Amino acid sequence: MSKRSGLVPIYGNYHGYYSKRPFTEDRRLGLLPKNLFVGKRVLDVGCNEGLVTCQIAQSLRARRVIGVDIDESLVRTAWKRRRAIWSQQAPPSISENTPHNGTESPNKKRKRAVSPSRAPQPDYFPVSCEHMFGPLSIPPQSTRLDEFPHNVTFRAADWVNAEIAEDTEGYDVIVAFSVSKWIHLNGGDDGLMRFFRRVYTALKPGGVFVLEPQPWDTYGKAKRMDAKLKETAKDLKIRPDDFSRILREVGFGQVEHRGETGEGGKQ
Ligand SMILES: C[S@@+](CC[C@H](N)C(=O)[O-])C[C@H]1O[C@@H](n2cnc3c(N)ncnc32)[C@H](O)[C@@H]1O
Repeated sequence: MSKRSGLVPIYGNYHGYYSKRPFTEDRRLGLLPKNLFVGKRVLDVGCNEGLVTCQIAQSLRARRVIGVDIDESLVRTAWKRRRAIWSQQAPPSISENTPHNGTESPNKKRKRAVSPSRAPQPDYFPVSCEHMFGPLSIPPQSTRLDEFPHNVTFRAADWVNAEIAEDTEGYDVIVAFSVSKWIHLNGGDDGLMRFFRRVYTALKPGGVFVLEPQPWDTYGKAKRMDAKLKETAKDLKIRPDDFSRILREVGFGQVEHRGETGEGGKQ
């Protein structure tokens, strides 16, 4: 898990990765079936500072989400982000009973209070308040371990080469957004295959692997960061266009392409 070369983000371990993104739902998540995460146990590989992980746990109503990243300092930031996001969420009584415009009838109110699909209001507490007073403290884990923020955990690990305790129970969904290139460039074709096989093994029967592969034409800039990456890149035979075929060979069933967001940002 040690970083080979100081500040060079050879794992795609960018700091401030989400700083230019507005605090709205990640557009890649919007391409997925609406209920994909509801009530599910999810692993987010390469979670970086945990923004996507928290969105899956909070707005997309996963039962449990584990974010894993190779960079310990990003994982520390992710824990802080979890608290910041919690701070901005409406208190349960408000997010359960009151719509955004506060005009709901008492009948509907009662119905929403018992609905299992009630959604939190993520943007209730202004960021300016957090800047002035610091984030609100997270209540002790009491009743709802399956609700945000208690349903989120972060771990520092090279998930391609090391297991984490949470793997034992398995996952319903494994998410890998913008990480395959870094696994490929650091571990070569063998590392990438190990990753795909690990995902297959860690998924429960019927589980879903959500992969956002970076295109081959983005590898060039990445490999120029570091001599070792450049060396590894010379021997790569697998291309991202081969991933669908390879995933089927690993054992996955149907491969579905959900489209592109057209979103920029670092890869
Ligand atoms: C470009 S960022 C993508 C972050 C996030 N998945 C997203 O798309 O918003 C890639 C992340 O993967 C992490 N990473 C790379 N190799 C990894 C590995 N073997 N195990 C766990 N995390 C890894 C990096 O540290 C980095 O935070």
